[in-house]
Amino acid sequence: MMRIGIDDISLYVPGFFLPLATLAKVHNIDPNKYLLGIGQEKMAVPPPDEDIVSMAANAAKPLLTPLVMESISTVILATESGVDQSKSAGLFIHGILNLRANCRVIEFKQACYGATAGLQMACALVNQRPNERILVIASDISCYQPNTDAECTEGAGAIAMIVSQSPRILNIHPYQGRYSFDVMDFWRPNQHKMAFVDGKLSIEMYLESLKQTWQNYRLDGGLPLSSLRHLCFHLPFTKMAQKAFSIFEAIEPKAAKDIGPQSYTTSQIYGRDIGNCYTASLYIALLSLLENSTEDLSEQNIGLFSYGSGCVGEFFSASVVKGYNTHLRKTEHHRLLQSRHELNYEQYLVWFYQDIDPQIGSYELPQLTCGRYRFNGSKNHCRQYENSQQSQKGN
Ligand code: CAA
Repeated sequence: MMRIGIDDISLYVPGFFLPLATLAKVHNIDPNKYLLGIGQEKMAVPPPDEDIVSMAANAAKPLLTPLVMESISTVILATESGVDQSKSAGLFIHGILNLRANCRVIEFKQACYGATAGLQMACALVNQRPNERILVIASDISCYQPNTDAECTEGAGAIAMIVSQSPRILNIHPYQGRYSFDVMDFWRPNQHKMAFVDGKLSIEMYLESLKQTWQNYRLDGGLPLSSLRHLCFHLPFTKMAQKAFSIFEAIEPKAAKDIGPQSYTTSQIYGRDIGNCYTASLYIALLSLLENSTEDLSEQNIGLFSYGSGCVGEFFSASVVKGYNTHLRKTEHHRLLQSRHELNYEQYLVWFYQDIDPQIGSYELPQLTCGRYRFNGSKNHCRQYENSQQSQKGN
């Protein structure tokens, strides 16, 4: 059987963060509620000249060797934070990154689940046309009302992946457990920038979906828990992994005891410093496991759980390809995370919540981003992007 999966993967996060200890001080609560109770240390904050398109382009750029560019047949961009009701955000990226014209571009939406649908569709497309590659991007800004319980779970970032045959990093297994249920646990009506959420219900639905998808995955021929040495969960906040693992402790006590909490702790490292990135969060957890593990993960199996409120869940699995380590961008990702600038609460408020009147069709934004690609404003309601490194050089 042809092996299909993730051949290359890249992370982008904005160059600014708000410490959760700062937020706790403003909310006048014990910082340990966020640091331990929620399991978050920092939230990534995009300046006004970054959006899901510029973050996605910054994540995808390092993957685009001439060979890869020549063979990308499809761009799938998954996001909860779309920038247009009609045009898919991926088309801006197709333009910015000069991808070939013989290509299809689409946007996937189902809250935080969209990238998993994108990954599964990409695998199916490669199965049909094995010489083509698919660019799957997950890019999101998690934004809630200020001074709410949900504010501590904000964040921003993007993951880009190349899906191909004979992948160098991860083989995706064919077993899938899915679960869909119509519920209002988290949603964002068209006219709202900030999400509405029923926090407790959302956690309940997440855990119920995990239970159902696990059962369906096993019925589909999926591996037993004892064969999955590592688990990566959608992480709206890193404590969620502990809650998710408690489902396995209840329904698979022996195997859960054998694999233990060490099955998920390495996957929490990046998310703890970035925050929720909706569609990208599960793949940030996966990358965190691959890049921070002290052991060689070659040929080990990983269980992955994707959850998008509303709700759709999916449990699937994958195995790590021998030699994967030499194809990761660990040094660049660690540098990206370590070189970020700390914001104070006032600066975060201005950047995160400042809204431009939708009636204003033309405006320019000052350059604040540390990234190569930036959102530089709008002309007659058309969003404008630029390669800021090129414009600095006067090209
Ligand atoms: N020291 C240590 N721990 C403390 C503490 C302290 N001083 N004070 C409180 N805690 C602990 C609590 O005991 C609790 O732990 P458990 O969850 O293990 O019981 C934890 O901190 C959180 O405390 P609360 O339950 O009181 O938290 P809250 O009600 O203020 O809000 C939340 C938590 C519901 C997750 C809220 O942040 C929220 O609504 N977030 C957005 C929604 C979300 O992330 N949902 C997740 C599932 S849905 C999903 O995954 C999709 C998605 O991305 C949105």
